[in-house]
Amino acid sequence: MKIALGCDHGGLEIKNAIIEDLKNKGVECIDFGTTTTDSVDYPVYAKKVCAAVQSGECVLGILCCGTGIGMSMTANKQQGIRAAVLSDAFSAEMTRRHNNANVLCLGGRVIDSAKAVELANIFINTPYEGGRHDKRIAMME
Ligand code: RB5
Repeated sequence: MKIALGCDHGGLEIKNAIIEDLKNKGVECIDFGTTTTDSVDYPVYAKKVCAAVQSGECVLGILCCGTGIGMSMTANKQQGIRAAVLSDAFSAEMTRRHNNANVLCLGGRVIDSAKAVELANIFINTPYEGGRHDKRIAMME
């Protein structure tokens, strides 16, 4: 399972924490940047991560900015991307189970690194349930 990650300056710290944790667990990560705290434009990184998910290079994506909101707005305009911005464990689980979300958006000014790592792990380890949810997801397109 390969995970695509991206962030702007507001999400750098939590993205780095997630990457370190996932790599320690043997999960392959592709970091699409940014890699410094210099101010950058979050749509650039959102589109790179979404492209990796769209192409199948990565199975899931994780995007981090200040709130997660700008990343999620951008990601949800990309074809085939279902991005969820959230800050609690229940939502992280349910958006995989019911929405088959393929991109997780987190806010570095909303949650700390420990919470970001917790939510990322729930997101990547929770399966989509399928069944009655297939029709609803098809209706989104
Ligand atoms: C950058 O200051 C901030 O706007 C960005 O990280 C994000 O929160 C946007 O949604």
